[in-house]
Amino acid sequence: MHKVFIKTFGCQMNEYDSGRMAGVLAATKNYLLTTSEEDAEFIIVNTCSVREHAENREYSYIGRHIKDKKIIVAGCMAQNLKEEIVQSFPKVFAVVGTFNFANIDAIIGKKQKQKLFVNEAPDSYNIEPARSDKYRAYVTIMQGCNNFCAYCIVPYVRGRERSRTEKSIINELKTAAENGYKEVMLLGQNVNSYGLDNGCSFTKLLCDVEKINGIERIRFMTSHPKDLTEALIETVAGSEKLCKHFHLPAQAGSDKILKAMNRKYTRSEYLNKVLNIRKKIPNVSVTTDILVGFPGETKEDFKDTVSLMKAAGFDNSYVFKYSKRSGTKAAEMAETVSEKEKGERVNYILDLQKKISGDINKTYEGKTVEVLFTRENGKFAEGETDNFKHVKVAEGKGLLGSILPVKITSARSLTLTGEVQK
Ligand code: 5AD
Ligand code: SF4
Repeated sequence: MHKVFIKTFGCQMNEYDSGRMAGVLAATKNYLLTTSEEDAEFIIVNTCSVREHAENREYSYIGRHIKDKKIIVAGCMAQNLKEEIVQSFPKVFAVVGTFNFANIDAIIGKKQKQKLFVNEAPDSYNIEPARSDKYRAYVTIMQGCNNFCAYCIVPYVRGRERSRTEKSIINELKTAAENGYKEVMLLGQNVNSYGLDNGCSFTKLLCDVEKINGIERIRFMTSHPKDLTEALIETVAGSEKLCKHFHLPAQAGSDKILKAMNRKYTRSEYLNKVLNIRKKIPNVSVTTDILVGFPGETKEDFKDTVSLMKAAGFDNSYVFKYSKRSGTKAAEMAETVSEKEKGERVNYILDLQKKISGDINKTYEGKTVEVLFTRENGKFAEGETDNFKHVKVAEGKGLLGSILPVKITSARSLTLTGEVQK
């Protein structure tokens, strides 16, 4: 048995893809997945390329292990840099792009000289993925992106939008439910496009997932604001199982910057969607991604982002400094915001968000919410509400995997603290 360690960088889809590779390798019975880097003969590094910082970390990780291990560089950076990786690390065992995860057994087993596997092969989801998360089953429903936002490398590394068949998704979710998962997270770069290429639709898929016995909560990520339909908002509003949470990346609040980013919506269209969601779905959470320092972003443009944040009242936001990605449209634009200024803008947004989240979370004090417990931390058990608020309770032994009512006793910007109601 060859021992394999999988190191995952990046997003939840990467976690899922690592699980797929683990599932494929385990099924051959020739490989043993190990949790110890030192023990492994092979290390598969599943990579992210969304920002330069991620690629730098991955390069240094590979550099640290290339002498002693057979390294396979997989995923987005593999697809992005291709032969550049072989040139930087001639000793690399293989470079496996985002279309070749399902063949990882054949690639590892190959004794020939070929190292590059970055061809756009059809995806295959025949084998049950190994799941690293015990209480939430992540399931990719579509991959790729057709939007070409000017800053984003994803369409180049994940290819065009491709939906999985509904049957294969439902089968995988039924197995997850049989294995005790109560909550599922449906993943895609743009989940609203699900089904456009196979005659299904995202709302139909959601209605069918709802019928699976044992699944009590359904989440999805990410929705592109321009594609978020009234039908979807109404489906969520009318459902017991669909979680009241939308992650809706705004990226910026200035129409000029949104246009330059090729986001295909205006500030007011975006804001109207958020206000509509809040009107139709009581207790809904809306979270967002913000990108600061895009080429041409002036102080005035940044002020528009700040005022959008105030108007939308996001429950939480993830803020990123613009990072130039070769091959994208924005890479041809001159950078105008210094690293220092980007850092200051990030900090401003973080402080503002802390205040907004704190104010929203205060309204939970004294209320009772349902929590799925997913983590233990010392004497605390932690988990999430349906609308994705983080909750912790003391004396939390034995709660993992249960959904229980919790009365909130105190609230801070990131966490609600409470007591389980008997
Ligand atoms: N630089 C910084 N952040 C980026 N994102 C995507 N591309 C870049 C980039 N070049 C951010 C966006 C996206 C999130 C997943 O990552 O905000 O929504
Ligand atoms: Fe990137 Fe835009 Fe596609 Fe999201 S929608 S993956 S930000 S190109």
